Amino acid sequence: MTSVSFDSHSGVWLLRTRTTAYAMRLDGDGLLRHLHWGGPLSLEDARRLPPPAPPASSFDGVTGEEYPCEGGARFGVPSLQVRFPDRSRDVEWDYAGHDIDGGELTIRLRDRHHPLEADLCYRVRHDCDVIERWTVLRNTAAGGPAFELLRADSACWTLPALPSCRLSHTTGGWTAEGRLHRVPLPHAETTLTSRRGVSSHHVNPWLMIDAGDADERRGEVWSGVLAWSGSWRITVQRTAGSVPSFTGGAGHEGPAVLLGPGESWQTPVFAGLYSAEGFGGASRAWHRYIAAHVLPHPDELRPVVYNSWEATGFDVDEEGQRRLARLAAAVGAELFVVDDGWYGERRSDEAGLGDWTPNRERFPRGLAPLAAEVRRLGMKFGLWVEPEMVNPDSDLYRRHPDWVLHLPHRARTTLRNQLVLNFARPDVAEWAYSWLDDLVTAHGIDYLKWDMNRALAQAGWPGHADPDRVWSEHVRNVYRVMDRLRAQHPALRIEACAGGGGRLDLGILAHADLVWPSDNTDAVDRIAIQHGFSQIHPARTMSAWVTDSPNPLTGRSLPLDFRFHVAMTGVLGIGGNLPAWDDTELKQAATLVAAYKRVRPVIQLGEQYRLPDAVQYVHQDRVVVIAWRLPSGRGLPVPPLRLAGLDPEAAYRDEETGEVHLGAALMNHGLTLALAGDHASTLVRLVRE
Ligand code: GLA
Repeated sequence: MTSVSFDSHSGVWLLRTRTTAYAMRLDGDGLLRHLHWGGPLSLEDARRLPPPAPPASSFDGVTGEEYPCEGGARFGVPSLQVRFPDRSRDVEWDYAGHDIDGGELTIRLRDRHHPLEADLCYRVRHDCDVIERWTVLRNTAAGGPAFELLRADSACWTLPALPSCRLSHTTGGWTAEGRLHRVPLPHAETTLTSRRGVSSHHVNPWLMIDAGDADERRGEVWSGVLAWSGSWRITVQRTAGSVPSFTGGAGHEGPAVLLGPGESWQTPVFAGLYSAEGFGGASRAWHRYIAAHVLPHPDELRPVVYNSWEATGFDVDEEGQRRLARLAAAVGAELFVVDDGWYGERRSDEAGLGDWTPNRERFPRGLAPLAAEVRRLGMKFGLWVEPEMVNPDSDLYRRHPDWVLHLPHRARTTLRNQLVLNFARPDVAEWAYSWLDDLVTAHGIDYLKWDMNRALAQAGWPGHADPDRVWSEHVRNVYRVMDRLRAQHPALRIEACAGGGGRLDLGILAHADLVWPSDNTDAVDRIAIQHGFSQIHPARTMSAWVTDSPNPLTGRSLPLDFRFHVAMTGVLGIGGNLPAWDDTELKQAATLVAAYKRVRPVIQLGEQYRLPDAVQYVHQDRVVVIAWRLPSGRGLPVPPLRLAGLDPEAAYRDEETGEVHLGAALMNHGLTLALAGDHASTLVRLVRE
């Protein structure tokens, strides 16, 4: 069904996905112009589409190009900006052919004068509607000076004219990630970007655009997701005629890399998806794509983790961790992770980062006895690490002050008392791989929580001929070290974290198994954070712990089952200070963990539907609904919750009460929920009869 085809007569290419089509054409001037992205078309239909309109006036330029470069009569945001050795910047492309290889299309462009070539790459998959796009740039000269790549986006996506379109995206900050905004798409230009060296808590590298009328269940939605974990930029444009387009790729403005003779530069993937099934349909399509084509182990059920951070902070020692481990095992945790504080002189965030050997006072016999105890208790053993960072107060920094990002004659600004290692340096990446490999080997470590706790600054690489490569090579080396570790230790699993959700993107998800979405574990705040997370990322990648009440960050008190139910909508974990929980709470926690394990395949592997104050999952013949009630300030009863994605003809039995409901009634009328009082919550299990 999915295919790539070309009509040589008209110069039209057509990409067909499961339910959508994408078409472009070579126009009379040899420019690659966008024709269609939306519902299905045949090649014959595409061939007959009117050619793209010429510029509207002498003040307008070419629009709707597949990969607009800087040069000629173009006045929009360029996807490509190059400075040639003669200091000029205009690129003029000639079409140089194309290749079709299964679901992959490569269109080759060649500059008319300079030895610069571009491959515009497209890939469609047999099982989804996502179109992957990326670009390869080549300096084909045999010798001579380098070109400067000032901007090299992955792709530019053009939509049909949408008179009243909206932009959906997430913004936030530390402890307030993933706030979803759905606003009228501003005219002119809107830029979403990170200049922090990580994809960032502040804006996530994706967007959705709809015609102004989509909701969770219905409507056309176009979306783009960038698979990159460093700085990035996506610029959305809306023309006077209300045609939206967006160009995006790695890097922020300023840094430029050199492309020497014979060198090529491959951008990350900027994937696009058209869905006619509303925001919910778009999210589920992304979830399926991520499971099928991004995650290393999509079908594996994620264990219930216990993590020590909120219980012990930096105050980590063998005895304390043993006590936590015993309680964690008793409530049903399957994996025990010792967070920050186990190594070097790490008694606070002021020292020790970089010295990755167990602290001798806290672990006089090393980590082996604790790891053995954790295993004896029937759990896997995991450790927190932060390989990209160093405290100035550390043996590593005293030995290698040149290993950090720095610039001559400039300060070395610490954030959280730490500096960033220049992970782009091969020796630094090798050092990190080597101690991580030793650590994992020595203790048979099952799980690493790989953290990254500050943004990059003074990102220099003194002595390097192309110092701005630091921005991209840092990211690539993080990926490489993770991949080498995984190859060497196939059972190792990785949770990605960057001070919470500072590195949540499809780049990291190709190398890690799940992401820690926020350092804010307050279940009420988490509802909003998780709502933003779910727009693109599936529940199986969302780590969620139950912690103490009142919450140490927000001071809010919440019932235990509410905290559990909210965390159960992803990969459940526990992060509370269990020794302070009383017997009733521990018993209740054990019951709730057991309940999660029963529904885990439905939540982690199922299709997710966002409902008002609820999330629903459907997997094979099983349905799980987790619903909650937030303070309403009114005494009105909760209306029946209308479910989605069921078979209207089928009967569904409530596994708790035995009550049987018809699918049509559950979807059209709704499920009556017993939710009384503020922060009441419930978990309903239905099975198709
Ligand atoms: C970051 C993480 C936390 C915790 C601390 C440890 O803030 O997001 O979960 O691991 O670091 O220092």
